[in-house]
This record gives sequence, C-alpha cells and structure tokens, in this order.
Amino acid sequence: MRFAFFDAKPYDKPSFERYGAENGIKFKFYETKLTEDTADLARNCDGVCVFVNDTLDANVLEKLADLDCKYIALRCAGYNNVDLKAAANCGLRTAHVPAYSPYAVAEHAMALLLTSVRRIHKAYIRTRDFNFSLNGMTGFDLHGKTVGVVGTGRIGRVFMDICRGFGMNIIAYDKFPIKDSDINYVSLEELLAKSDIVSLHCPLTDETRHLINCETIKLMKKGVVIINTSRGALIDAECLLDGIKARQIGAACLDVYEEETEYFYEDLSGHILNDDILARLISMPNVIVTSHQAFLTEEALSNIAETTVMNLNQMHDGKPCPNELIWKDGEIVHGTQK
Ligand code: NAI
Repeated sequence: MRFAFFDAKPYDKPSFERYGAENGIKFKFYETKLTEDTADLARNCDGVCVFVNDTLDANVLEKLADLDCKYIALRCAGYNNVDLKAAANCGLRTAHVPAYSPYAVAEHAMALLLTSVRRIHKAYIRTRDFNFSLNGMTGFDLHGKTVGVVGTGRIGRVFMDICRGFGMNIIAYDKFPIKDSDINYVSLEELLAKSDIVSLHCPLTDETRHLINCETIKLMKKGVVIINTSRGALIDAECLLDGIKARQIGAACLDVYEEETEYFYEDLSGHILNDDILARLISMPNVIVTSHQAFLTEEALSNIAETTVMNLNQMHDGKPCPNELIWKDGEIVHGTQK
C-alpha cells in the first residue's frame, strides 16, 4: 500500500519508514498539511496519514474519495478534525491511535505545572545571564493542594497517579465516571470551586468546546492554575486572557491553543505573530506555552507508527480493527466494520 503522509516532520520519518518497510507500506512524506488544495498529493495512494492539524472536512474527504483513496490513518488519538459522517458517506475508512503513551502527555502536564509553580522558566533565563536574584521567584508547595482532573481516561488517570506521588488531594469530573473505582468524583462546578489546579484531559466535543469560559472561570478559586494538554478549544482563549489580566487565574500551562493550526509546529521566529491573543498570552509571566509537544517522546513515536501500520493492515486484510472509527446511526463507534 502507498500513503500520502501529510504534515511530516523529521522526527516522524524514522519510525514510519521502519514499520512501513517491515509491513509492505510505503509512506510518501509531505511537509504540507492536508487541505483542499493539497489533497491531490494523495493521487495513486491508498489513503492518507494525517495528524491533528490536517483538515478532513467534507470537501477534502470527497476529493480523497474521488482520487480512489480508501483509508484515513490518523497518527494521533483525537479525531475532532475529521468529519466522520462525511468520511462514511464517501466510503472512506478511518482509524486512529487511541493510546501511544499516556505517560508522555501526563508527564508533560506535570512538567508544565512544576515549571510554572517553581518559576523554572524564569530561573533558567536568569542564571544564564548570571542573574542570581530570587526576587519574584516564590512558588508554592504542590503537597496538600487540590488538583481537579477533568476526564479520567488513560492520560487523566496517569496524571492522577503522578499527583498522588506529590501528596496532592485529587478530585475528578468525567461525564462517564468509572464505576467502582476509588476516584473521588465530584460535579464539574464543585471541581472548579475547590481546585487549586485544574488539568484538562477530556476530548474536544461539541459539549466540551469552551468548557473553560468566562462563566466557568468565575466559579474557580482566585489564583487557580489551569493546565491544558488536551485540545485548545476546551478553553475560550479570550476569557482565559481576561481571567489572567483580572488576576483570577494565577497561571496557565498550555500545550494546545484554540487557533494553533496556523502556528504550532512551525518556526515563525522573525515573523510577526498575527494572533493577538496568543501573542499576549505568551507575553504573560505566568503563562507557559509549548507547541503541542506533550506526546513527543521516543516511546510514543514508536508506538504511534507501529499502531498506525497495524490499523492499516487490519483494515486492508479484512481483519478486526479495534481502532477503526465508525459512524453508525449518528454516533461514533469503535471497532470492526462488517
Ligand atoms: P481517553 O479517551 O482515554 O479519556 C478521555 C476521558 O474523557 C474519558 O474518561 C471520557 O469519559 C472523558 N470525557 C468524555 N466526554 C467528557 C465530557 N463531556 N466531560 C468530561 N469528561 C469527558 O483519552 P486520553 O487518551 O486520556 O486522551 C485525552 C485527550 O488528550 C485526547 O482527547 C486528546 O485530545 C488529548 N491528547 C493530547 C496530546 C498532546 O500531545 N497534547 C496527545 C494525546 C492526546
């Protein structure tokens, strides 16, 4: 099989080339993202291999179907950028990589939190300049603080384990709580009211879009630290900025941003950033932004390539593919297409 691999980065190639070669799959790497204008690169391919910021709306999917593509291989967990209903209507089969390293993302969330509360980002810059002053560097202990975890799936649970190691009190909210678990579930309102730190680990859906908005920010403790390693649009960025300016939000740790598609993963140093909200957020001393890198560990890259290749072979060989995303009766089900 041949696949057009969009939004390719140098770190993607070694693992995909290796697993592809071992399994009879050739990936053609393109740096460009998949859009209506670039879809034609998938001509003579069995499908496309895509990432979080590629566009797979109805127009793009129809184009891919016209080119006789059969498969969409998402090399990520989230699939909010794919119109799965349109894919099904076009006869395109889609699979994702639901888990590759929950540790990578959960550890990154904790790295951001520690960096923020202990001002490591400031200290690193200061000492490089031989500035050994500690003024303005006072942090706070994580021990004894309450962390509210929204979404108790794979990543959220690993993050809770890490927080437990720090001696934090953990409360959680999930629309689908795990039955008979020892997780201390509360309502979203209670979580927001009681948490010193709120960490988002739920998917982006119509329901969770702008979960953190001007109203919910008002429910939070003054000085709350917000961590988002899930999807940017879980937070209304303008409200976040207002909350920071009003000192209601003490710090924000963001690996994702609502309008990241145009900026993240690109070297834009020397350019003028057109997004005023992102520029203002980055300028804040209490905001840390990383460029959707929480997944980026060697273990995760290897698992992503291995699972993507496995998904493609399973679908192509007519075997059960548990990672397939099927649009059925108006909702998404996981499993095997009959
Ligand atoms: P998961 O599917 O294991 O867990 C998601 C949890 O969210 C589930 O327990 C689910 O019941 C819950 N949930 C669903 N709807 C909800 C709602 N309306 N309110 C509250 N909770 C809700 O997913 P996993 O693997 O833990 O990943 C979580 C998210 O992390 C993904 O959706 C993805 O967007 C993001 N992610 C980010 C990465 C990065 O590099 N920054 C890498 C991988 C994933």
